[in-house]
Amino acid sequence: MDDAELKRRLWDGFASLQTLLGGSAKNGFVLERDGLMASVVPSAPDSPALNAAVALKPDMALHMLDELEVRYGDAGVRRWAIWVDGSARGVTSELRHAGLAIASASPGMGAALEDLKIDLTTANPRPNADLRTVGRVNDLAYGNVDSRLERTLATLHEGTLRGYKADLNGAPAAVALALHHGQDCGVSFVATVPKARRQGLATQVMRSALADAQRFQLTTITLQATELGERLYQQLGLRRLCPMELWERRR
Ligand SMILES: CC(C)(COP(=O)(O)OP(=O)(O)OC[C@H]1O[C@@H](n2cnc3c(N)ncnc32)[C@H](O)[C@@H]1OP(=O)(O)O)[C@@H](O)C(=O)NCCC(=O)NCCS
Repeated sequence: MDDAELKRRLWDGFASLQTLLGGSAKNGFVLERDGLMASVVPSAPDSPALNAAVALKPDMALHMLDELEVRYGDAGVRRWAIWVDGSARGVTSELRHAGLAIASASPGMGAALEDLKIDLTTANPRPNADLRTVGRVNDLAYGNVDSRLERTLATLHEGTLRGYKADLNGAPAAVALALHHGQDCGVSFVATVPKARRQGLATQVMRSALADAQRFQLTTITLQATELGERLYQQLGLRRLCPMELWERRR
């Protein structure tokens, strides 16, 4: 499996997740253009997490900036953003030129399932967490006092996103989500509550997600890592594919 195909799957799955989350939010809707997918959420006008476009073809996405400005403006959105492959330097300098500023950058990672050197025979291969639980554990992990991730995930129908958890002392302590998209398993919302870290719980939920993907005969796993998460994924056998940059436009 070459990196170009893994990268394509990473961005496709990521765009699906973005539009699933944004499109399911109150009054949210989705824009689909050649080379770009975006979600518009007028009820959250200051959330660039929900009001974001994903550039599937970075060059083409540049031509869509004017339309995005109009569509987000018409929706009353004050902060919106675009996810783009940071290795497309020509594109990111155009974004800067157009008045956008980089808000975050994190590594996109992936691997072919057959290349992972882990034994999944003892892993639980079935989803065992509801979306609200996944959101709640993420809020605890990121220190969100406003329960924003629990509220975001609670708007979704159970089933499309597959949730996994590991308990500690009878309470959910680590979680992950997977979106099966074509042949790819896109993993997101991996988190462990602070007091339960470094005990192998995130590894355990990742093993569940991988065993479930294997059960459905998917061929790859992709995800966006954080600094803390990257080592964990490297140990499982995933590799860096590209920087995923979020460029924000503020009014
Ligand atoms: C990243 C995160 C999910 C890791 O969760 P975790 O449950 O601590 O992960 P694990 O315990 O499986 O592995 C973490 C480390 O503990 C080590 N570890 C695992 N079991 C261990 C044990 N019994 N004793 C000591 N260390 C152990 C692992 O080897 C790993 O070491 P490394 O950091 O040197 O690579 C967690 O830190 C977190 O929620 N961070 C905030 C949110 C975030 O960044 N999420 C990732 C999104 S991509």
